[in-house]
Amino acid sequence: KPRLLSGMQPSAESLHLGNYVGALLSWLNLQESHEAFYMLADLHAITVPQHPAELRENSRRTVAQYIAAGIDPARSTLFVQSHVPAHAELAWVLNTITGFGEAARMTQFKDKSAKNADSTSVGLFTYPILQAGDILLYQAAEVPVGEDQRQHIELTRDLANRFNSRFGDTFAVPEPYILKSTAKLYDLQNPGSKMSKSAESKAGVIWMLDEPSVTKKKIMRAVTDADGGIVYDPENKAGVSNLLTIFSVLGGQSIASLESEFAGRGYGDLKKALADVVIEMVEPIRARTLELLDDPAELDRILAAAADRANEVAEQTLDTVYDRVGFLRRQ
Ligand code: TYM
Repeated sequence: KPRLLSGMQPSAESLHLGNYVGALLSWLNLQESHEAFYMLADLHAITVPQHPAELRENSRRTVAQYIAAGIDPARSTLFVQSHVPAHAELAWVLNTITGFGEAARMTQFKDKSAKNADSTSVGLFTYPILQAGDILLYQAAEVPVGEDQRQHIELTRDLANRFNSRFGDTFAVPEPYILKSTAKLYDLQNPGSKMSKSAESKAGVIWMLDEPSVTKKKIMRAVTDADGGIVYDPENKAGVSNLLTIFSVLGGQSIASLESEFAGRGYGDLKKALADVVIEMVEPIRARTLELLDDPAELDRILAAAADRANEVAEQTLDTVYDRVGFLRRQ
């Protein structure tokens, strides 16, 4: 089976609908046809300041959300990045073959550092290099992510090719797996920006752990436009188009059929129907997440077994890398 690696940061109290639709749904669909490694990216999370107690809580909660959404720990390796030392170790080596200018071109770094000009860390700058290492350690053929990660996967491909041509064939060169229809969900209050864990206002972010009444309120208050027509037109009707995208993915109905179903009706009707669809999907996942969190020892057992498996694969790659770059190997 082809290998797969992807990850999410435990940098908020909960995953949001963009994480679910943009990435987690693909993770679920691919776990049968692939040997999947799904990671909790805690090393990445500390590239911006985190409260230690909160980071630990958020980490457990994120893992519980993966499982509640349907990631099967018996089939997929669901592990924590910091349990596998090779991630930090390979990142160091990759740092040394990455150009400073190349790293400086990463748009996510530019956005995030512009927002926190005073507290930008070097770790935030080298973040995409760590991410490249995550992927290359597992010789992943594909990386299922949302659109915002595309540039990081491109960098990963460049680094893999560079290392391979300098030191001999070592890494598989991965392909991004990005579904066009769901690659980017937008903030309900600010449909020009992506739905994001770090959004300033949370009113436009649907958290996978929101109570149904909260989800409903957020959808009913979603920003639309004064034009009134329920048609998919991302350029001129970003808000409505975003709602149609969510409806279509979660409701399993094409956008065209939604347009005809809601032709001549008001935004309120669309929002009410959408809230039902979202809640029907999110609520069982929320309930299951809370159940899983009641038994942290079981979660820890799952993670320990996965760490063994992940270490086994990652150490093998790192060993080859150390050998190829010419390190004197300890006998
Ligand atoms: P993170 O934690 O920001 O997001 C997790 C996943 O959710 C996707 N995503 C979205 N998709 C659609 N619409 C949105 N509004 C939206 N917001 C987020 C992201 O594209 C991502 O797939 N750098 C990564 C974590 C990471 C990683 C990796 C990913 C670390 N190492 C190796 C893949 C491979 C990140 O910050 O994702």
